[in-house]
Amino acid sequence: MRRYPKYVYNPISLIGAALAVAMLFAIILVFVVDVTSEEPSPYIGILGFAVLPLPLIIGLLLVPAGMWLEWSRERKGTSKAKGLPTLDMNRPEHRTAFITFVTGTIILLLLTAGGSYKAYEYTESVSFCGRVCHEVMDPEYTTYLNGPHARVGCVECHIGEGAEWYARSKISGVYQFYSVLFNKYPAPIPTPIDNLRPARETCERCHWPAKFHGDQMWGVSRYLNDEENTRWRIQLVMKTGGADETTGQIRGIHWHIAQKVEYVPTDSTRMDIREVRLHRADGTVEVYQSMYNPLSEEERAALPAEEIRTMDCMDCHNRPSHQYLSPRRAMDHGLETELLPRDLPYLKRVGTNLLASEYITREEGLQAIESGLISFYEENHPEVVSTRQEDLTNAIAGVQQLFEMNFFPAMKARWSAYPTHIGHQEFPGCYRCHNGAMVSEEGEIIRNDCQLCHVILAQGPDVSIYEGVGEGITEFKHPEDIYEAWREMACHECHTGGEYF
Ligand code: HEC
Ligand code: HEC
Ligand code: HEC
Ligand code: HEC
Ligand code: HEC
Ligand code: HEC
Repeated sequence: MRRYPKYVYNPISLIGAALAVAMLFAIILVFVVDVTSEEPSPYIGILGFAVLPLPLIIGLLLVPAGMWLEWSRERKGTSKAKGLPTLDMNRPEHRTAFITFVTGTIILLLLTAGGSYKAYEYTESVSFCGRVCHEVMDPEYTTYLNGPHARVGCVECHIGEGAEWYARSKISGVYQFYSVLFNKYPAPIPTPIDNLRPARETCERCHWPAKFHGDQMWGVSRYLNDEENTRWRIQLVMKTGGADETTGQIRGIHWHIAQKVEYVPTDSTRMDIREVRLHRADGTVEVYQSMYNPLSEEERAALPAEEIRTMDCMDCHNRPSHQYLSPRRAMDHGLETELLPRDLPYLKRVGTNLLASEYITREEGLQAIESGLISFYEENHPEVVSTRQEDLTNAIAGVQQLFEMNFFPAMKARWSAYPTHIGHQEFPGCYRCHNGAMVSEEGEIIRNDCQLCHVILAQGPDVSIYEGVGEGITEFKHPEDIYEAWREMACHECHTGGEYF
């Protein structure tokens, strides 16, 4: 005996039903795998929450479609051609069909609600953002994992809370998906990101301004390019300062946040600044103009509002998460953490040079590092090759690891593609304004003396962290004799990060 109305028994409806049931089981399976495995593949999520539901819905639609076709075929030509099919609850097969339909719909609605929530959660996850388009996001994902925000989700900085930004991110996400699919994405991915949410709405949810106060003691370790890879230490106090009266004074570096500081950059990279406007609390405005490239009266009058930028966290902390170390900084990091043997002659210099070369692929880079180190020691220090094989092997593996953490040939992502605005050593950074060339009408410059932002307490080979404390401030001493050139030139004019310095 048939349990369902006879119209169900047509090939289209049956195929539809079979498809729907199969997909339902597949989704449940994917869900179980997703929940039970330690580190599920990011594609599992895409499959379960974005791909499989589509054939499931098609299958479900095929069931009534087949029934309708069957019913209208049978009615054709008969006198009862007009009117709709009837539902008679007294007939057992109609009853079963009705009950199946209602319970099926309820179960599906529940699953859809659960599924959509899962899909929402999933598209917000670090795994989705960082691992789905593996090659494209590899640089950002890797540097993110090695950065100070490795436990903060991508969306916390890139999207933040609220429906508006959620919708905006999903709309631009569709375009990004398309550009990855058709290989249309640019490499390196350009910054600054235009539609990044204002920093004050993202960063300040965790780092609220009232909390910034006090200065910080820093111990910086650098390694020289000499045979001994001499460890050069700099003890300094960073005047981080504060930006809120209730918890401290408004002064030091975070002073900018308590003021309204506007600036006019030459272009969207914000690397060159033409004018700075300081709005003081008493309502007066101080305008500083670039000596080299000031705005003319006409330009100022015609300036569109969107070309004036108000300073926020991102104007200094533009690389809070994805920090690509330059070759010399990567080597310093490797030597300081003893990933690299510190006493292998000239390791800092050779490693820096190998990291600074441009490679087409990751494999080429790894290969060049290995052969480069081996041939350097064979030619210049054969004793290393004959007696210190283990150190040499460790040095190769270490430099290769630093390369994989900071250099991404496929996406052309490396330190030089992403200037950082903190500091002044390899990029202008703070010196975009504090360069001694921003002058007010009264002839005042934005201050740039070496003690404005930090004071040095001690420096030299292997000074300890407490050395110099109590002796007061010392003047900066360049580790290498460069005839005091650092007084006339900015550090970044020599230290580009490439070459060996
Ligand atoms: C602490 C906040 C923060 C977190 C967490 C974070 N980002 Fe970013 N991200 C930024 C900032 C700031 C920029 C640079 C914006 C600019 O210069 O306009 C950026 C830039 C990017 C860029 C542009 C290319 C580049 O390297 O500058 C991509 C792509 C990106 N992030 C992806 C991700 C992904 C994927 C994750 C999670 C795995 C993530 N981000 C986590 C703050 C963050
Ligand atoms: C969801 C919370 C969260 C958000 C949002 C967030 N951060 Fe952080 N941030 C942290 C945590 C946690 C740390 C690590 C604190 C520690 O190590 O003591 C940190 C550390 C830092 C540090 C110190 C880094 C270091 O090397 O020690 C800076 C600078 C920073 N964040 C800036 C930012 C900026 C700029 C943004 C906005 C783009 C931002 N953060 C957004 C939670 C957050
Ligand atoms: C004028 C540039 C500038 C601006 C604007 C700025 N910072 Fe900083 N910030 C610094 C510098 C410089 C340091 C200390 C040196 C370093 O970390 O490299 C620092 C340190 C920090 C630290 C770590 C220090 C600590 O107290 O533990 C956090 C967190 C931080 N900033 C968050 C923010 C947030 C959030 C904003 C926006 C509300 C912001 N900063 C705005 C330059 C700036
Ligand atoms: C867009 C321009 C601009 C940038 C970029 C900038 N500053 Fe400033 N900064 C100013 C102006 C304007 C003043 C006020 C004039 C002065 O004090 O000479 C100032 C003042 C300061 C002061 C003195 C605050 C006080 O206590 O009175 C410190 C410290 C400082 N900046 C540090 C930094 C650091 C560190 C960076 C880089 C991380 C930086 N600034 C980047 C514009 C800028
Ligand atoms: C406008 C603020 C500002 C001025 C002016 C300034 N610095 Fe700095 N300096 C910084 C900041 C911010 C950092 C930390 C950068 C970072 O986070 O790595 C720094 C870092 C340093 C370091 C540590 C370098 C390292 O290897 O990491 C030295 C040394 C230094 N500065 C020397 C100088 C000297 C010398 C001058 C004067 C010619 C000077 N600075 C002027 C803001 C400033
Ligand atoms: C005229 C060019 C020039 C200027 C300007 C300059 N340096 Fe250097 N610096 C060098 C050279 C060359 C070396 C490499 C010396 C060697 O072989 O060890 C070096 C090495 C260093 C090192 C040790 C090696 C390393 O990898 O970090 C530090 C630290 C350093 N400089 C800091 C600074 C700071 C801070 C400033 C700005 C206040 C500055 N330098 C300005 C040329 C310069």
